[in-house]
Amino acid sequence: MSLIEVAPASLLRGDLAVPGDKSISHRALMLGAVADGESSLAGLGLSEDTLATADAMRALGAEVELEGDRARVGGVGLRGLRPPPAPIDCRNAGTLMRLLPGLLVGQEGRFDLVGDESLSRRPLDRVAEPLALMGARVETTEGHAPLVVEGRGTVEPIRYELPVASAQVKSCVLLAGLYAGHGRTEVVEPVPTRDHTERMLEGAGARVRRKPGAPAVWPAERLLPLELEIPGDFSSAAPFLVAATLLSGSELRLHGVGVNPTRTGLLAVLERMGARVAVFNRRSAGGEPVADLEVTSADLTATTVRAAEVPTLVDELPLFALAAGMARGESVVRGAQELRVKESDRIEAVKNVLRPLGIRIETAHDGFRVRGVPSRPKGGGVVDAAGDHRIAMLGAVAGLVSREGVRIEGAESVGVSFPDFFAMLESIAVR
Ligand code: S3P
Repeated sequence: MSLIEVAPASLLRGDLAVPGDKSISHRALMLGAVADGESSLAGLGLSEDTLATADAMRALGAEVELEGDRARVGGVGLRGLRPPPAPIDCRNAGTLMRLLPGLLVGQEGRFDLVGDESLSRRPLDRVAEPLALMGARVETTEGHAPLVVEGRGTVEPIRYELPVASAQVKSCVLLAGLYAGHGRTEVVEPVPTRDHTERMLEGAGARVRRKPGAPAVWPAERLLPLELEIPGDFSSAAPFLVAATLLSGSELRLHGVGVNPTRTGLLAVLERMGARVAVFNRRSAGGEPVADLEVTSADLTATTVRAAEVPTLVDELPLFALAAGMARGESVVRGAQELRVKESDRIEAVKNVLRPLGIRIETAHDGFRVRGVPSRPKGGGVVDAAGDHRIAMLGAVAGLVSREGVRIEGAESVGVSFPDFFAMLESIAVR
């Protein structure tokens, strides 16, 4: 494991373009692989996670050629994926493990999916159950990976009420709906979650109802190849956004960031805390809204994140906890029990990073409470990334805004979503 030291910065200054959105990149590789013909993807977010998806789609028979951040995907058609000789290794990629079964139920043959230790601890019954309701044969290992899908070419349409707000589960059911003989497959969400799958399916010519909280899809004969410019990942922009807000005198521009409203909850939350983020040059790329962001530092006051907001900033809640630690007053997050089953138990991991720095955080089963102090936390220690890329990035931002810096154990885990993270951070840090 690598130990990286992040020294305190006085401020952040400059211009950045973060890599392509991970959620969108996974989906583009998967849908490209089952389209009729050749898809062309630009601005792909290259990371360990998306490479796992590229390799999986190759193993299933699609051609995937990568060149820099561009990909050419030779699709095999909606029913053209073939069982590989060895199990498909999803490594750390939850999105791959949860979305792919939705496509596999429509193929012929047996498909085995495995993952790394962290992924094998995460719940999979949430996708196995709705797929079983559609008549598919999907077996988990006591609710976890390894997972086996016996594809039989077709499934039954359903109307499925999601027990947890999860874009991954929603997407899995919608993808399976492409193979649902006749009729509409509808997913009802307790709270709307990211809608990249619906947007991309629509772009590929499928019949989709993009209704927030109740999307639906109809069976398809074929998908059109994709021609996509993938926007920058808001979740990769978020560490810089928070650090620039917290470091007085900072001025940072982030170019070409995806601002799909199902993803930008952190912006709304930071803004009501007093942050100064200008969103300008709004445009659209690959069926998704994109903009440039300009962040200047600001003093923050505490806020409460409501359960209904949680899906819109689910991956940014660790960073929110740090911002809350430097805001005036007490901040609370509730209804975020999903954080317990991410790449790590992110409620515990956040506490373990922030407390030793001097931030007063109390955890609950479904969130946390932070009593903020508007000054730099002390820092100085070693934080454990817990094998989780988002926690490693939290540690890095904590190091920048602390008085004594932070050393991060297991810093290499940033490679799961953002291999160049530390280099980009150093390029804008003024010390
Ligand atoms: C993702 C959805 C979210 C998110 C994950 C990526 C996706 O998970 O935390 O990082 O690509 O659909 P859930 O849908 O399980 O909440």
